[in-house]
Amino acid sequence: MKLVKLGGSIITDKRVMRRFSRKTAARLASEVARAHEQGEEMILVNGAGSFGHMLAREFELQKGYSCPEQIPAVAKVMKDVRDLNVRLLAVLNEAGVPAVSIPPNVVIVNRNRRIERFDASAFRRHLELGLVPVSFGDVVPDSTLGFSICSGDQIMLKLAQEMDVDRAYFVTDVDGVFSANPSRNKFAHLIPVVDKTTLGEIESTEASAPDVTGGIREKLWLGMEIARHNVEVVILNGSVRGRLRDALLGKEVICSVIKRDGGPDARGPAAARPEKG
Ligand code: IPE
Repeated sequence: MKLVKLGGSIITDKRVMRRFSRKTAARLASEVARAHEQGEEMILVNGAGSFGHMLAREFELQKGYSCPEQIPAVAKVMKDVRDLNVRLLAVLNEAGVPAVSIPPNVVIVNRNRRIERFDASAFRRHLELGLVPVSFGDVVPDSTLGFSICSGDQIMLKLAQEMDVDRAYFVTDVDGVFSANPSRNKFAHLIPVVDKTTLGEIESTEASAPDVTGGIREKLWLGMEIARHNVEVVILNGSVRGRLRDALLGKEVICSVIKRDGGPDARGPAAARPEKG
């Protein structure tokens, strides 16, 4: 099975509150449809982008419950991220992907910002029917903090732990993992294979838009954890037409890869090898 996370940076305009990038999302949906036609099972996850991070940051929802004024903001963010998920479902269904929503607040309970309870059967039951479950970054109940944020990346890790997953694709708006922010540092270069050694080379940079679920380091840590479950992790640029489709179909594309732990190609030939040169 394949997991695909469509990051908030690619399906929304992260700087403009609640702006859905419909054209890009529709194109990515048709690329997912091409891979789905091949008959492989898939689960999708979408990030929140400007439907979640801005308001969550304003009311410090990532820290959990601190005052009653946060409660209407919790409801608003949950409505907004659900709204984004429904918009994505619409373009997926139009493209021929039988996508159904799995809302995290119903299937997940956090404990101190990490997933404590996860109902994987909700995903399995839909997959058995030939449907494509689509979950998303959300605010969820938290047994110590009252509520907290569950990122799409954390859901990807849980799915990698619970399901029989072969590859996990992270679709962003950049070619992969860079040594530094390419828009600010002319010496920044793409890291084709990310591992514990290359992780040290990565310059920590401030995110260019509000992000309450941690920067690149948190994301890469989760990526490494996913790879430890014998899943190859591919980070690629969804703003380039056809790149997601090609990666899903096993062609070589420009990307960064975190190899599955247990050695390179531990489960057969690597499909999404970074393109040389
Ligand atoms: C964030 O989810 C969820 C909320 C802010 C409510 P993600 O962390 O997966 O979203 P992106 O991909 O960074 O936008």
